[in-house]
Amino acid sequence: MNKPFRIAMLGKQGAGKGTQCSRISEQFQIPHVSTGDMLRSAVKAGTEFGLRASEFMERGDLVPDEVIIGAVVERLSQDDAVNSGYLLDGFPRTLAQAKALDSAIDQAVKLVINLEVATDVVLERLSSRRVCEGCGRTYSVSNPPTSPWHCDTCGGDVVQRADDKPEAISRRLALYDELTSPLIGWYSEKGILVTVEGSGDLDIVTSNIVKAIHSVEA
Ligand code: AP5
Ligand code: MG
Ligand code: ZN
Repeated sequence: MNKPFRIAMLGKQGAGKGTQCSRISEQFQIPHVSTGDMLRSAVKAGTEFGLRASEFMERGDLVPDEVIIGAVVERLSQDDAVNSGYLLDGFPRTLAQAKALDSAIDQAVKLVINLEVATDVVLERLSSRRVCEGCGRTYSVSNPPTSPWHCDTCGGDVVQRADDKPEAISRRLALYDELTSPLIGWYSEKGILVTVEGSGDLDIVTSNIVKAIHSVEA
């Protein structure tokens, strides 16, 4: 792929989107645009956007399309995304969002990576995930920070996400099936979808994503 790289990553909750996007963003120097991280920072900062979003997020519901689309359009209009492209993590998640990405922005997505992981694997991962409240770095019960439970990067508290409780997990996965999984067919028909198996070793998954990026010609 030539710069600017414009990539979106689809995948169930817990598929490893955040983990893999951090690695790819560092390797290729492209902005990692995670709608979940944007929303969590807004909630923490108590902005109006955060206040509108928090009740949806805690239940495991999607934030309304008009709220999230506006925020993403604004983020992608910033210089770094215009010049280097973007690596979208968690957006689009509905057909309305995918259409907005196509039409509202003169920055069409070139590659959509579908990170595929079986539901029993994501359930196990989500219930053992822990995240840093300071910088968002992800850990798990089997891969804790060196000094439990303080982040190796920023020293912040490493905790369980509110939406990683069982009821919210089931709600999020049901919404994935209903609203997000149709995007796989939609992008596949456009000829820009590559599916990468996401259940193996972290480094192997990263290297398969890198291969998918290199396979795009334009
Ligand atoms: P968001 O933060 O995007 O959450 P999500 O989609 O539910 O996805 P996750 O972050 O849970 O999973 P992930 O795929 O990033 O996995 P991770 O790398 O952490 O969204 C949160 C909420 O915000 C939504 O519910 C919604 O309310 C709102 N929202 C966000 N975007 C929206 C949108 N576009 N529209 C409307 N609302 C929106 O990995 C999971 C765990 O597995 C970690 O512990 C990790 O260490 C481990 N792991 C990862 N890969 C491997 C591997 N290969 N082997 C072993 N363990 C692994
Ligand atoms: Mg994530
Ligand atoms: Zn941290």
